[in-house]
Amino acid sequence: MDILGIFTYPFFYLMVMVLIILLIGIYFVLSHKPENWFFYHKLFMGLGLIIAIIGFIVLGVLSLTLINLILGVLTIILLVLSIMGGFIANKQQDNKLRSFHIWFGRAVYIIATIVLIIGIITFLLK
Ligand code: HEM
Repeated sequence: MDILGIFTYPFFYLMVMVLIILLIGIYFVLSHKPENWFFYHKLFMGLGLIIAIIGFIVLGVLSLTLINLILGVLTIILLVLSIMGGFIANKQQDNKLRSFHIWFGRAVYIIATIVLIIGIITFLLK
């Protein structure tokens, strides 16, 4: 498959959109703006995860290879753990949990990006 083929693949657009939404959600934390940035952090992270899960079930299951299906499920599990960690850290007001959430969240974002890149590579090798 050539590189242009990827632009005819709806699942690709969906996952790029998820990564952009999650990045916007992380940006709210980094900038601490606008005033209710924390609400937007939760909103965008939640939205990104919901779109990822729905997109994965509706489009991914039909079109992905086994290895990408497994990587996708693992990424979604990591994102769910991030959300749970965020809520727990916030509720307990514990600084250690909070920095764990921050580092875990950064790692999960990087993993999600790598999974998308692996997906593109497998698509090209098909
Ligand atoms: C998919 C889910 C989530 C991911 C991947 C995620 C990721 C992140 C990242 C990467 C940061 C640090 C940004 C940086 O400094 O580089 C962060 C900060 C934070 N997140 Fe999340 N987050 C998620 C959901 C949540 C939720 C649901 C909550 C709370 C209910 C939450 C609470 C926080 C808090 C309290 C901070 C620290 C804010 C600060 O100290 O300025 N997160 N998150």
